[in-house]
Amino acid sequence: MKTRILIVDDEKIALQNLEHIMNKEGYEVVSTQSGAAAIKFLETQDFDVVLTDLKMEKIDGTQVLKRCRELHPDTEVIMITGFATLESAVNCMKQGAFYYIAKPFRLEEVRKVTKEASEKVALKKENRQLRTLLEAYHGKVKIITQNKEMLNLLETARQIAPTGCNIIIRGESGTGKELLVRYIHYNSGRANGPFFAINCGAFTDELLTNELFGHEKGAFTGAMTQKRGLMEIAAGGTLFLDEVTEMSPAMQVKLLRVIQEREMLPVGGTEPVKVDVRIISAANKGIRELINSGKFRSDLYFRLNVVTIRIPPLCERKNDIPLLSYYFLEKYSTLMKKNVEEISKEVLDVLENYDFPGNVRELENIIERGVALSNGKSIEAIHLSEDLRDLNIKTFRRKDGNLPTLDEQERTYIQWVLNEAKGNKSAAAKILGIDRVSLWRKLTKYGLDDETN
Ligand SMILES: Nc1ncnc2c1ncn2[C@@H]1O[C@H](COP(=O)(O)OP(=O)(O)OP(=O)(O)O)[C@@H](O)[C@H]1O
Ligand SMILES: [Mg+2]
Repeated sequence: MKTRILIVDDEKIALQNLEHIMNKEGYEVVSTQSGAAAIKFLETQDFDVVLTDLKMEKIDGTQVLKRCRELHPDTEVIMITGFATLESAVNCMKQGAFYYIAKPFRLEEVRKVTKEASEKVALKKENRQLRTLLEAYHGKVKIITQNKEMLNLLETARQIAPTGCNIIIRGESGTGKELLVRYIHYNSGRANGPFFAINCGAFTDELLTNELFGHEKGAFTGAMTQKRGLMEIAAGGTLFLDEVTEMSPAMQVKLLRVIQEREMLPVGGTEPVKVDVRIISAANKGIRELINSGKFRSDLYFRLNVVTIRIPPLCERKNDIPLLSYYFLEKYSTLMKKNVEEISKEVLDVLENYDFPGNVRELENIIERGVALSNGKSIEAIHLSEDLRDLNIKTFRRKDGNLPTLDEQERTYIQWVLNEAKGNKSAAAKILGIDRVSLWRKLTKYGLDDETN
């Protein structure tokens, strides 16, 4: 959607001039010479940015500002003011104007300020939209997503949840495997039963046997009391076997037998114990290769894997990044009793272009860190680790998510370098590796040259 701008100036020439520039910038422009008409527009239409002259006959800029704040709290208002009215301009800032520009204005300044205002409004809108989306999440386990593939996957999960069949969840580290297992548990008929998780890669065979199957009193030296295994105490519920591919061949045999016979013998026991658990396993290594190389039993695999669900890595669902970011922002802001409510555009750009080897967990850590370090209302680039901040340079993706054309990319890059060089054209030309004349030509081509009003 195009940014909509309302321009108000009682001076015809100035108005036409502004209208021309804003049209050229690609905004949708409505303009008027009277404050009263401007207020009428505000009462019937939505605008992202209002650009208004301060001193006008009858209804002046302050009144336009006031009405706009009342009607459209998200809209940003930029005041344009002559030297004589500088003091009232400062007053306007106190009343919530975004910025004031002194006359005679430099076109570059008007462009820059309008762009900043429109970006701020876009961010506010996005923020509000994401919050509304987040409010829709209820229940014990919240899997936040607006990605189509993920939504399909959750639909599948809800469908198979009540069947009680065994499931293998695949996915890279930090993609949310355990979260999904809990989601399935709470959507199944076993929701009121117990839920237990165990990491098969973290135990020796002996300890894992002990954890899973338990032992009788006196079963071995040191077994002073009876211990019941997870297979027994998870009865009526769900048992999550994390990193199931790490099980030794001997353990695989034991597990297979329990699943087939639906009963087991605790260590040192003589009476078999009934087993009534649903097993959901997770694997982040290629389970197929392990089967082919004989490291994982295929008969066990078929028992565990009635259904497989593969969670895509975060870099394959980039449209979840802003939503998840805001979710974690709220989570940690509440947890740390802080009022961090926003994520700056720069930070969102960096996040949306990062490939997240650590997936959702890594994103969660980044936001947690940002909330901890922020002492204002928002997470800024400075609250990111240095490695992430450096990624900034690559982020020229267009707002609509599409990739830019070469010309667009060149324009943005030149603008960025000029900014870095603090407007010094010789320095910018040097960084760009071109001479001043070529730079000047490009600046003219892209309308970046310093025209003055
Ligand atoms: N879609 C999501 N919505 C909300 N939180 C999520 C989502 N996905 C993951 N998380 C959070 O990210 C963190 C990592 O998720 P989880 O522990 O489920 O990943 P995992 O795949 O089991 O990781 P590992 O392979 O390292 O064990 C958790 O804090 C989890 O709550
Ligand atoms: Mg896990």
